[in-house]
Amino acid sequence: MELTKIHTDFPLLSRKVHGKPLVYLDNGATTQKPQIVIDAITDYYTEYNSNIHRGVHHLSQLATEKYEVARKTIQQFIGAQFSHEIIFSPGTTSSINLVASSWGRANVSADDEVLISAMEHHSNIVPWQMLCEEKGAKLKVIPMNDNGELIMEQFESLLSSKTKIVAINHISNTLGTINPVEKIIAMAHDKGSLVLVDGAQSVAHMPIDVVSLNADFYVFSGHKLFGPTGVGILYGKEAILNEMPPYQGGGDMIKSVSFEKTTYNELPHKFEAGTPNIVGGIGLGKAIEYINEIGFDFIIEQESQLKNAATKMLESIEDVKIIGQAKQKASVISFAINGFHPLDVGTILDQLGISIRTGHHCTQPIMDFYNIPGTIRASFAFYNTLEDIAKLRAGILTAKTMLS
Ligand SMILES: Cc1ncc(COP(=O)(O)O)c(C=O)c1O
Repeated sequence: MELTKIHTDFPLLSRKVHGKPLVYLDNGATTQKPQIVIDAITDYYTEYNSNIHRGVHHLSQLATEKYEVARKTIQQFIGAQFSHEIIFSPGTTSSINLVASSWGRANVSADDEVLISAMEHHSNIVPWQMLCEEKGAKLKVIPMNDNGELIMEQFESLLSSKTKIVAINHISNTLGTINPVEKIIAMAHDKGSLVLVDGAQSVAHMPIDVVSLNADFYVFSGHKLFGPTGVGILYGKEAILNEMPPYQGGGDMIKSVSFEKTTYNELPHKFEAGTPNIVGGIGLGKAIEYINEIGFDFIIEQESQLKNAATKMLESIEDVKIIGQAKQKASVISFAINGFHPLDVGTILDQLGISIRTGHHCTQPIMDFYNIPGTIRASFAFYNTLEDIAKLRAGILTAKTMLS
């Protein structure tokens, strides 16, 4: 696979920022979009914009077909057994809220326990906290060690027959840690608990097979997967989704409505009330087609090279400390520079055309754990290059000089 060809697939990567060629290292926040996705969005609005699932006319049927093809593409991408196990949502956050509200309210009672980890994104903390507060249940936290790895012995001792669900990220957006979700799922199932995996940071970087993982729920966002914003996925096992009450009421999620009684639609429509983000779903399907063409062999090889080179580069700069040293790590690298505030460093890097993220990355408990105000985070995608890393190095050295 030619990196220069890949670069031309992403029009935004060739723009300048503050007069400098863009170095985009904020893929953990959102990824850039290939032209094929941008074209699919334009095509929808210029050729067949219409509502889905309810029109007999040509345009509506065309839009419905493309939306449902996208659902199938997503099903195959994560190895789900049925396409009706793929629920479109506005994103990871919404998918987690759906499960916490619908499944949670029906299955979690006073004195039950919900288990999350010390390295969750706020969106995999707060919905569970809200549920536990409402139900009088307990939220328990799997601790991590200084390297940013979950302490599995402690996980084992926290698990009990009171544990109703374990909600855990596959890859930490701040530390880059790849969590042993397959093992976590098997251990949780042994105790009769379900598992929700937050795949926001994993789906773009490794092949996922929800059936072999045996995940009960797997959630992710389209925009971190080279697709549009405002669309994401909730995968759930058919039997579990069938048992769950609807999350929101409205059009499309019903079979019949009278003032006396409403009956609900089948999966996946039961969880898709109202007009969905049609173009978002179609765009996400295209993004996945694109990733399938690139292939995970290439993606994994490229990103592992970038991770190793960036780690070595950062370790060679005086006063730089990498936060998160897990053995199993993705191409997400947080670091701090002794004596400098991350925001100041980020501002100088931005002036040099380098987009990185600074702050707590929606993981304040991780900042508390390390007793730091925030980190500087470089998160790589397969379109990044070794030259990007060289520019980051030069940028850090410039920032250090300017701020000293
Ligand atoms: C691990 C993780 N979970 C959840 C989210 C929330 O995703 P979204 O804002 O797309 O809903 C993010 C976003 O950064 C994330 O990194």
